[in-house]
Amino acid sequence: MARHLITSAIPYINGIKHLGNLVGSQLPADLYARYLRGRGHEVLFLCATDEHGTPAELAAAKAGKPVADYCAEMHVVQAKIAEGFRLSFDHFGRSSSDRNKALTQHFAGRLAENDLIREVSEKQMYSHADGRYLPDRYIEGTCPNCGFDSARGDQCDNCTKQLDPVDLINPHSTISGSTDLEMRETKHLYLRQTAMKDQLDTWIDSKTDWPVLTTSIAKKWLRDGDGLQDRGITRDLDWGVPVKKGDADWPGMEGKVFYVWFDAPIEYIACAQEWVDAGKGADWERWWRTDKGAEDVTYTQFMGKDNVPFHTLSFPSTILGSGEPWKLVDYIKSFNYLNYDGGQFSTSRGRGVFMDQALEILPADYWRWWLLSHAPESSDSEFTWDNFQQSVNKDLADVLGNFVSRITKFCRSKFGEVVPEAGAYGDKEQAVIAALTERLRAYEGFMDAIEVRKAAGELRAIWVIGNEYLQDAAPWSTFKTDEATAAAQVRFGLNLIGLYAVLSAPFIPDAAATMLAAMKMDNAGWPEDIAAALNALPAGHAFEVPENLFRKISDEEREEWQTRFAGVRT
Ligand code: MF3
Ligand code: ZN
Repeated sequence: MARHLITSAIPYINGIKHLGNLVGSQLPADLYARYLRGRGHEVLFLCATDEHGTPAELAAAKAGKPVADYCAEMHVVQAKIAEGFRLSFDHFGRSSSDRNKALTQHFAGRLAENDLIREVSEKQMYSHADGRYLPDRYIEGTCPNCGFDSARGDQCDNCTKQLDPVDLINPHSTISGSTDLEMRETKHLYLRQTAMKDQLDTWIDSKTDWPVLTTSIAKKWLRDGDGLQDRGITRDLDWGVPVKKGDADWPGMEGKVFYVWFDAPIEYIACAQEWVDAGKGADWERWWRTDKGAEDVTYTQFMGKDNVPFHTLSFPSTILGSGEPWKLVDYIKSFNYLNYDGGQFSTSRGRGVFMDQALEILPADYWRWWLLSHAPESSDSEFTWDNFQQSVNKDLADVLGNFVSRITKFCRSKFGEVVPEAGAYGDKEQAVIAALTERLRAYEGFMDAIEVRKAAGELRAIWVIGNEYLQDAAPWSTFKTDEATAAAQVRFGLNLIGLYAVLSAPFIPDAAATMLAAMKMDNAGWPEDIAAALNALPAGHAFEVPENLFRKISDEEREEWQTRFAGVRT
């Protein structure tokens, strides 16, 4: 039994995520966590909400709420939806927690002691009326290029020209509307990533088993163009982790907070502390401190490709630069993008299916199966309603659902709701055992390697074997001439349901639970030996025919949903 730490990139607090976000981090992380638990390993699976930064402040302002209240409410909303998708986090934390504040300040202090932080003087817009410096997005004015009257300090949304706040004509604060603005000299902290370059380079080079998507992005940032840059880690915002050196004030940094991308990954560690605080665990250090047992931990991170630079360069700079024995990531699984029906998912335009809406129209397993079996691993992939309908109707309803329903109903009609006793397994059954054994080893191989699509393909093939067996053995015909053999065939089929439940649980946990409950079985653990697993249900064991596991999606539904989710979310 090994120990596995698993984290999913933590979703921004502002708004409900779409299915593209889900399949890029949380869902495959959950698949892997469930699989490893299923195989008997000790797993700590952590996720949280990413609550700081301008987008959170702006979303709260738009909702007319204090930002702390907004975040607290949205955290509950996101936690509920995560539960709806059966994301089995051991803890779902918050980057705004006191734990994360303290830890972020601690890391900044360590980095400063190790001379990895420099102070830089910059000119920035100060608003007298607001009593604060304004980030670029908080300043609007007329675009000098096209005359658009609400161009932002960083960019004109009308002509797309990149701007500096000083370029704007009649600039004003978007907080108060005040035009009483002044360019002032202010200090910011920069993390000296350039000083870490060689160490990072060597580290990335040692990761020869990582997905190419991950290492190619990391190497591009390390080596292309200007290469790795020092990075500003402070911002002039109210909402965030106050800039401190450990417990001590940081002269010149009053009123500033750390940049959201500095504190967010530190939440991976803080989340383990929150997990202990919540009474769910006893010891976070044995997961995170290599001097306290974490040297035996395998740490895997899941994320979309846009997150890779932060996880291969910035966060490791924080960890390594601290000079303390923190656990570094062992494997980074990254994903391409999922597109939506001929375009992109768009949060701002409400294009595509969002997590809450998905659960309103179909149960989690339907979505989990489609998303995971079409995960954007080697390239971007695309959600279409047609393809979704086909996968659900074929894989889930026709193959798995139909198998379970046919064998249980046939048994009930001829032998009652108990596992029949007569007969013995013969050549057909032995052949199925051999085929399944081979497929199972392949399935395990892909799951171990986090090859999500390929694993889904093997699982589907494992279901197909059951259907083909049933077709071929045809106990309904056998029964007419040879009741004992038919009984053995039915017993074999019923046992297959138990096996399928265990193997399918990482992908479709609810259906798996339904199958086990129908067979009145406890999860016996991962099958090391298929022949043994297919003898698990003894003759005379009672079961119940389950409700239909999956329903089909009709053409009318498909068309209605396609129209409903094409545009602006209401
Ligand atoms: N909130 C970020 C996003 O959705 C991910 C943050 S991951 C962490 O892109 F490393 F910062 F935690
Ligand atoms: Zn413009």
